[in-house]
Amino acid sequence: MRTVALPKEGTAAAWRDAARGLLGAGTPPEDVVWQYGDAAPDLFAGPPEGPAAGAARAPRSFVALSETVCWHADLERFARLYALLWRLRGRPGLMQDRGDPGLARLREMEKAVRRDRHKMTAFLRFREIEATGARRRFAAWFEPDHHILEPIAPFFMRRFGDMDWVIVTPDLTATFTDGDVSFSDGGSRPPLPEDATEELWATYFRNIFNPARLKVKAMQAEMPKKYWKNLPEAAAIPELIAGAQARARDMQAAAPTLAPARAARISERLRMTEDLPPVDDLDALRREAEGCDRCPLHRDATQVVVGEGPRDAPLMVVGEQPGDQEDLAGRPFVGPAGQLFDRFAEEAGLDRSRAFVTNAVKHFKFVPRGKRRIHQKPDAGEVQACRWWLDAERRLVRPDLILAMGATAAASLTGRGQGIMKRRGTFEETGDGTPVLLTLHPSYLLRVPNEAARAAAERDFRADLSAAAAWLEEHAA
Ligand code: URA
Repeated sequence: MRTVALPKEGTAAAWRDAARGLLGAGTPPEDVVWQYGDAAPDLFAGPPEGPAAGAARAPRSFVALSETVCWHADLERFARLYALLWRLRGRPGLMQDRGDPGLARLREMEKAVRRDRHKMTAFLRFREIEATGARRRFAAWFEPDHHILEPIAPFFMRRFGDMDWVIVTPDLTATFTDGDVSFSDGGSRPPLPEDATEELWATYFRNIFNPARLKVKAMQAEMPKKYWKNLPEAAAIPELIAGAQARARDMQAAAPTLAPARAARISERLRMTEDLPPVDDLDALRREAEGCDRCPLHRDATQVVVGEGPRDAPLMVVGEQPGDQEDLAGRPFVGPAGQLFDRFAEEAGLDRSRAFVTNAVKHFKFVPRGKRRIHQKPDAGEVQACRWWLDAERRLVRPDLILAMGATAAASLTGRGQGIMKRRGTFEETGDGTPVLLTLHPSYLLRVPNEAARAAAERDFRADLSAAAAWLEEHAA
């Protein structure tokens, strides 16, 4: 029996080194006891030892999985990961086997860690504490479900790099001073002072709270009660809920006098700036989206698939949702519809590498049928929930033109999905005035039942992509 003791800091790297060594030495999973942090030594295990010598290769998808799962709170995580790694030796395709219970459990753990990370970035609140040097100092207390403070620290370092801060969790404390982070033991809730920032949060929350759209269940799903006690703005929630009906009636009585088109444009602009994920770049957006649970689609999908392409792309191409292959690869439009799009785009003179390619919905919706996963159209609620991410992508990329492929993309971008066959080839606008060229979805071309209809659809699609290329040329700076 071999015992491997893993440290609380650098757990994922230590697990990787140990697992590599054990695999290289041919040690089967049942001969390994994994210990973590301050866990008491197992009475029946041999003495703790460092990683064994030797090296072994693992698929990249496994490495990515292990790097997230290692931060899960379940003590079995290390053994489960090693058991999967062991089985991967003879079955390289195992990572794609959605029916494998061992892999399925690890995927659940991966999602739980990602969700926890998302909640921490959304609900951690810093309070200002006394400064000792030139930089302002802040402290925060947070109780994550998993051991995520270390992997998430770089997010807070990037976002709050111009101040010193400490984040205390029951498990670990991260201290960021003059640009360097260090970790020490966790603690209990520190006595954090109430400060001006506190009142700011409460005021902000009161202002963004729309009593006419109050959905207590949805609000609690996104901001579960367990986070309330550490959120300054949460103190306002009971009072806001209680007064919501009366305020909604008052709002109705004082109905807006703005012309509808102008009102829509203003509210779109406000929505684009106020209520979006706090991300400054596309990598951060991807990381944030990994923890997304704004609708139920995250439960069955393998992973979130956000857009890709240059941040300064003049063209944004929006499809419906990732398909089976995109869900596995984690990239948009890489399957049959994507290949068809690439072919037509090239013919039309559109360079995909200069476009930002994304989808209205970021998780694959499907029903299992035997070994196959059959695509399901996302419903209006799912499209609406995911618009948050599409808007965030639009805010970062700020494309000159958007190509909306299919009814779902049209619905998300223009507010109307019907009549796409009649509307295709025409330009409409998003609420904030970005031009949207409507076209067919490439998977429609793959599905049309007869030759003549397919030829007509291909002609239309080609014409629309050429119109996009011409528009871009005409509007090039
Ligand atoms: N269909 C889409 O709408 N998007 C993809 O990424 C793939 C297929």
